[in-house]
Amino acid sequence: MNIKQAISWASDELTLVCERPIFEAQLILCHHLKCTRVFLLANEEKILNDVEFFKEMIKRRKDSEPYEYISNNVSFYDINLFVEQGVLIPRPETELLIDEVSKIVKEEEITTIAEIGIGSGAISIILARKFPNLKIIATDISQDALRIAKKNIEYFGLSDKIQLIHTNLLDGIQDNLDMIVSNPPYIANNFILDKNIIKYEPKEALFGGIVGDEILKKIIDLAKIKEVKFLACEMGYDQKQSIAKYLNQININSVKFYKDLAGLDRGFIIKF
Ligand SMILES: C[S@@+](CC[C@H](N)C(=O)[O-])C[C@H]1O[C@@H](n2cnc3c(N)ncnc32)[C@H](O)[C@@H]1O
Repeated sequence: MNIKQAISWASDELTLVCERPIFEAQLILCHHLKCTRVFLLANEEKILNDVEFFKEMIKRRKDSEPYEYISNNVSFYDINLFVEQGVLIPRPETELLIDEVSKIVKEEEITTIAEIGIGSGAISIILARKFPNLKIIATDISQDALRIAKKNIEYFGLSDKIQLIHTNLLDGIQDNLDMIVSNPPYIANNFILDKNIIKYEPKEALFGGIVGDEILKKIIDLAKIKEVKFLACEMGYDQKQSIAKYLNQININSVKFYKDLAGLDRGFIIKF
């Protein structure tokens, strides 16, 4: 099988699963050959090595597995991160949370941050790269997530900037914190997700409880108890009303909600 035949076969296989089957076939082949798409176009007659491995990757994609897990790579903010099943694939909207946090770190001389639910390390790694004097303590309940975060943190040489702790929320952490940041699980338990998400991404990274905002509310309580200066969280597009109501009930008045690029409510910053 040559490159041209491989793309033709793979795009036929992916027609019913992908919106852009030729493009995805090319992407997977580029990953397989460690080459660019331009190389594929310029070398259509080149015979493929290890065809079975390529076919296996196409089979995984045909079964709706996200490309990021197949290639063990995700592009996020200005870097690429290692990902595999067991950790959430960081989403573009989370880049906005980082921008909101960055403004505060700059303006308010924040020196110590805790991230609840580090996942692949996406948020903490970007913040640590932007602010070399920042100390970050990052937790997760998932050992798989912590293992992958560690791998990414080591790759970027940030092991002395980000401390990883296996715990629920911030249990056992006594350090003084200026700010808490989190993109916690916030989807309602009974929400029907697409197959590519529900079959492959970790449940503990997705579901936040019966309503969905239960963990967010616990984090708000925790930030209040810990007397941090700021809390920044991502949330679901339909959670602004319930979070605003909760903040009102517990006498927190200084909150700013922000929207994502689609114009949907996506997160909030509390100043205590
Ligand atoms: C939506 S993912 C976010 C991952 C990463 N921060 C990102 O933005 O891509 C939520 C993460 O929180 C972790 N998590 C869920 N419940 C937790 C808890 N009670 N305490 C700490 N981490 C938790 C999950 O394992 C998962 O890694």
